[in-house]
Amino acid sequence: MSKPFLQTVNLCKRFGDVIALSDVSLDVYPGEVLVVLGENGSGKSTLAKILYGLYFPDKGYIKVEGISTVFSSPMEAKRKGIFLVSQRPQLIDDMTILENVAMFLGEPPSRDLRKRLYALLNELGITIDIDRGVHTLSYTEKQFVDLAKVLMARPRLLIVDEAATYLPRELKRRFLNIVKGLRAKGGSVIYITHKIGEAIEMGDRFAVLRRGSVVGVFGLSVDASTLRQAMFGSEEYLTRIAKGFTQGAPQKPPVLSVENLLVFDEYGKPAVNGVTLTVGAGEIVAIVGITGNGQKELGEAVVGLRRVSRGRVRLNGVDVTHMPACERVRRGLVYVPEDPFREGVAMRLTIAENMKLFSQTKVSRELLETVTRKLDVSPSNPLVAVAKLSGGNVQKVSLSRLLLTTPKAVVAYSPTRMLDEKSRVLALNMLQRLADAGSAVLLLSEDLEEALHVSTRVCVMVSGRIVRVFEGPDLEGYREVIERVMVHA
Ligand SMILES: Nc1ncnc2c1ncn2[C@@H]1O[C@H](COP(=O)(O)OP(=O)(O)O)[C@@H](O)[C@H]1O
Ligand SMILES: [Mg+2]
Repeated sequence: MSKPFLQTVNLCKRFGDVIALSDVSLDVYPGEVLVVLGENGSGKSTLAKILYGLYFPDKGYIKVEGISTVFSSPMEAKRKGIFLVSQRPQLIDDMTILENVAMFLGEPPSRDLRKRLYALLNELGITIDIDRGVHTLSYTEKQFVDLAKVLMARPRLLIVDEAATYLPRELKRRFLNIVKGLRAKGGSVIYITHKIGEAIEMGDRFAVLRRGSVVGVFGLSVDASTLRQAMFGSEEYLTRIAKGFTQGAPQKPPVLSVENLLVFDEYGKPAVNGVTLTVGAGEIVAIVGITGNGQKELGEAVVGLRRVSRGRVRLNGVDVTHMPACERVRRGLVYVPEDPFREGVAMRLTIAENMKLFSQTKVSRELLETVTRKLDVSPSNPLVAVAKLSGGNVQKVSLSRLLLTTPKAVVAYSPTRMLDEKSRVLALNMLQRLADAGSAVLLLSEDLEEALHVSTRVCVMVSGRIVRVFEGPDLEGYREVIERVMVHA
């Protein structure tokens, strides 16, 4: 067998009281994908950041082709051929794609670079104008551009830190194939994920992290249940709460209703085009669709973050179409955004402060602790600043605030995208609990899994319109039909 390209030797990293990594020793060989699997907060991103020179380890070191080193900046890691793509594309919005790539490579945006970049994009099957400003790109496009940018540098080790987590299924497959292409050329890949299915799809070997320690390294023949067991330990695995669907039940009074809604996107094109729907008390209605089919704009319009050009939004019969968002919140209509970093929470404040900000009433420490415990926020100390939490835990803080009050209606947009399997179940059960307590829940999602898990009605949205509605206690049986409607229609 060849020699490892990279080894980590007893890496340790601590943040205050939190031990993020504890004696992590791993190796990755040329031509293989090493999956690093672990639940939210298990230390995956910390490991990635040390390997890319963003964090300095407290103890331990790295060996690159047998030579001991530690990186004190990404520059040094890059010089060794080590690159990182993560959940957040590292691009400068005010520059074009070509300028971003040029800056990253440290060369002028010459005709030659332009040619090489187009050649690579072509090879990857990505059609995009490289003179476009990055601010005009969708999240998905940015993620591909970020990957292309890094591949331009011909990485010897590519670290992928949950970079595909956000992508819709078809595009994710393409993204993953591109990453696999690197392995075929003899490169090494460290593929970081909290999703077991994705891990199995990608990995040649699997290292499982739990609370900062490597609890197991497995070969190609490993199965999902072994990985799950390693990831979560002997902890009782959480089961889903039963859906509140009763066949032939009388129609619940609508709490949230949307009539013939027309909403434009930033470019003046209709993003939501004639949508009508109602959500009753205690109901969870899901709107599913591939990214960019208007789900996001629909959610924003309902909660008052986007102007409605035609149609009505009603909450308990009251027309709220043109009411400011804060007034809707006061009336019990709340929003759970997809990206808690940008919209959901105040990063500089502590968990406790974020909760108080949201509930607008006094919140006791006991109540806070109960709420954070219910969602398993880690660390659960309410006095920790949200900025110090891992991505999934930030979303949990954003969600756990809902438990402080029982809102009349909840609009949630891809609320579990950042969560690991266990946290996902907790969060979805929480939506179920809110519905059981009488909230009307509108779940806008790009993830059919999540929608089928909790909702009793699934509406498929394509190009701003609802094209099909599926209803019943066992929507699982419609999965394939729904998928087909989502991509074609
Ligand atoms: N910059 C930081 N400051 C304080 N704590 C941090 C910081 N980065 C990570 N942590 C903590 O370290 C632990 C591991 O986080 P992280 O590596 O982001 O986990 P993962 O990527 O597996 O979700 C978490 O408990 C997190 O709160
Ligand atoms: Mg992470």
